[in-house]
Amino acid sequence: MPTTLWSSRFVFIMAAVGSAVGLGNIWKFPYITGENGGGAFVLVYLACIAIIGLPLMMSEVMLGRRGRKSPIGTMAAVANDEGRSKQWVGVGIMATLAAFIILSFYSVIAGWTMPYILSALKGEFSDISADNSGALFGQLLASPGQLLVWHSAFMVMTVLVSAGGVRHGLERAVTKLMPALFVLLLILVGYASTTGHFAQTLTFLFKPDFTALTAEGVLTALGHAFFTLSLASGAMMAYGAYLPQHVSIARTAVVVAIMDTGVALLAGLAIFPIVFANGLAAGEGPGLIFVTLPVAFGQMPGGGFFATLFFVLLLFAAWTSSISMLESLVSYLNEKGISRVKAAIGGGIAAWLLGITTVLSLNVWSEVTPLAMFSRFESKTLFDLYDYLTANIMMPLGALFIALFVGWKMQATHSRTELGAWHKVWFPIVRYLTPLALLTVFAFNIWGLAGLEAAWHWLTASGQG
Ligand code: PFF
Repeated sequence: MPTTLWSSRFVFIMAAVGSAVGLGNIWKFPYITGENGGGAFVLVYLACIAIIGLPLMMSEVMLGRRGRKSPIGTMAAVANDEGRSKQWVGVGIMATLAAFIILSFYSVIAGWTMPYILSALKGEFSDISADNSGALFGQLLASPGQLLVWHSAFMVMTVLVSAGGVRHGLERAVTKLMPALFVLLLILVGYASTTGHFAQTLTFLFKPDFTALTAEGVLTALGHAFFTLSLASGAMMAYGAYLPQHVSIARTAVVVAIMDTGVALLAGLAIFPIVFANGLAAGEGPGLIFVTLPVAFGQMPGGGFFATLFFVLLLFAAWTSSISMLESLVSYLNEKGISRVKAAIGGGIAAWLLGITTVLSLNVWSEVTPLAMFSRFESKTLFDLYDYLTANIMMPLGALFIALFVGWKMQATHSRTELGAWHKVWFPIVRYLTPLALLTVFAFNIWGLAGLEAAWHWLTASGQG
């Protein structure tokens, strides 16, 4: 049993929202939506959140609360409890590894917010053109030295909180900052609605055009549902371990998922009108918000102030997420007798080192594509590959195993005690729907539509035989 629990349900919600809401919502969601053609992608993403993400979040928090250990320790303890193979610990190991890889590049991206805060303070965005904004972003990416400085600063921030114990700094920070971010996004949406391109944005985001959706896009939407809810990476399991027994897991998870989705949609509503109004490309890629938002702030009354506030809040949102990424590893090392301080510093240094390869892949190594022999990975740099490996492979795979465990290997009486009345809805979903949906997306992605048809024939034929 960990010695400290969250002081209330509210604090857990804030910590979990702090973990969930981050660069994934404000930086990644708009740019992958832009790259994948809008509406149809958004619809698949929302479906993934509701039918796969949410039940899985409940499963992870439940496992964490039953195990009351690090994700690795929890999987070992729960598997043991259920009289299952020790191998299930692999799920905890993969989750911890995924979080570690994500942290390495997340820190680099989060670092971008810092020079943007300085530029905003200096008034550099005032009346900036889209071209100049693009050039400013380009200069940042082209400088490994600058990127390294900000990456290092962000990693130090993460390690500091993690070393002090998550509950201390985090509880106070998230309860103030998350609401502030929400309000600021609303202000931005308000501004964006004056650009004259709001209707176009609504069509782009909410009118599905399935011809724009690819198999790859479906996998990206699924992977992003895990990424944005901090699933299959130990964070929710680790935080669940500190959840008091009387709190309703299901209601809590619903609140977290709704807030997370709300922030992502608000970010989309704020950003795309500006993209369209300035003739920028929706499929611009990872630089999307860093290129578009300065243009908007530059034209807004009080823009310097709002820009500063926005990038500060984005930095904090990323911070409360990165802390949760390190928690899987730190809590595990802590269980093994290494002090929190040493574990946080060691884990932070290792993730920082790996992060340097992301820094370089944005400039010096931008032509280095280690898996170019496979057509799908032809143009993927190291950074692209880390992102792909975690969001599109490790997380969906981890999620599949978690669903199989809670749906098939854990006694239903145990999960019923944890989930109460919600168990009735949750159980058939994690037992059948989630694994089936995940396998379908995998099959679709690996073998395409023809493969799915073949699998369907095989299934129906074996059903008759
Ligand atoms: N959910 C975070 C975001 O959307 O930015 C990212 C994240 C946090 C992923 C924690 C994984 C994790 F363990």
